[in-house]
Amino acid sequence: MRSSVFQGRHLLSTRDYSKAELTWLIGFAEHLKDMKKHNIPHHYLEGKNIALLFEKSSTRTRSAFTTACIDLGAHPEYLGKNDIQLGRKETVLDTAKVLGSMFDGIEFRGFKQEHVEQLAEYSGVPVWNGLTDREHPTQMLADFMTIKEYFGKLEGINLAYCGQGRNNVQNSLMITSAILGVNYVNATPKELEPDPEILAVARKFAAESGATIRVTNDPVDAVENADAVYANVWAAMGEESKFAERVRLMKPYQVNAELVSHIKNPDWIFLHCLPAFHNAETEYAAKIKEEHGIDAMEVTDDVFYSDHGHQFEEAENRMHTIKAIMAATLGDLYIPYV
Ligand code: CP
Repeated sequence: MRSSVFQGRHLLSTRDYSKAELTWLIGFAEHLKDMKKHNIPHHYLEGKNIALLFEKSSTRTRSAFTTACIDLGAHPEYLGKNDIQLGRKETVLDTAKVLGSMFDGIEFRGFKQEHVEQLAEYSGVPVWNGLTDREHPTQMLADFMTIKEYFGKLEGINLAYCGQGRNNVQNSLMITSAILGVNYVNATPKELEPDPEILAVARKFAAESGATIRVTNDPVDAVENADAVYANVWAAMGEESKFAERVRLMKPYQVNAELVSHIKNPDWIFLHCLPAFHNAETEYAAKIKEEHGIDAMEVTDDVFYSDHGHQFEEAENRMHTIKAIMAATLGDLYIPYV
């Protein structure tokens, strides 16, 4: 008999977890956060070896997995795209079999959802999706934990995502909101509306949870009843050639002082998975400013650094929630039901 409903499972998408399971994981992350703040040891993964595969760069996901492993008593091993043969000289299947024979768990950040799925199928150990082209499930645990910390609940909260409808964060936010009973609206231009497959999955979950799932081309309509407003980059890594078009399409969806003046709830919060282009002070943003004449993209400094901004708590929560999913799926904990 399994000692835990989570033991041995992967996290490839939040769609594989029930509302009760996601809620339990968020609650467990809150408990782990409390333990960390009180310096109470929680070595649930003592002696385990964890592979951290990164085909793309990362600040939060890499740091969160690394520190979470260390706090849990596990050994993290970073394997960057130039460190191993994956994709260049070795297939995902062969890599999965080799890594699975040496490591107890694998995190993967890469370009293709099918690759994280293959790692899960062939490695024989829990695999956690640290972002692919389709989804960003570990980000979701942190995002909804941050919302719950602030509002004390998730069900019935109104979340407005001002950003292009066709990216991994949007996909995961839409699906996870639907599972958890969070009312979700994506404000996006017509040209960038969400993939119908993602909408169909979300609407199926929403029928069970009672959440409303909407897409609108009107950013004011999206934010006026929002409790939480979420922004994301206008173009992902690898989409730089689309910048001129994205700036033109996305400018009306920028989260700025004018847009947020329409929000009715005075206690609304701003979220962002980060990194954010909220000024022109980075090398990358300065180049965008030079080429396209804009000082900020998806959010402006006055919103980002206002009291409404909770993106840095959200970033910290990546560590607590990643700890929760790793410990629950690999830690031999006694969790007979949720
Ligand atoms: N939010 C997020 O995934 O951040 P990184 O790209 O820095 O990991």
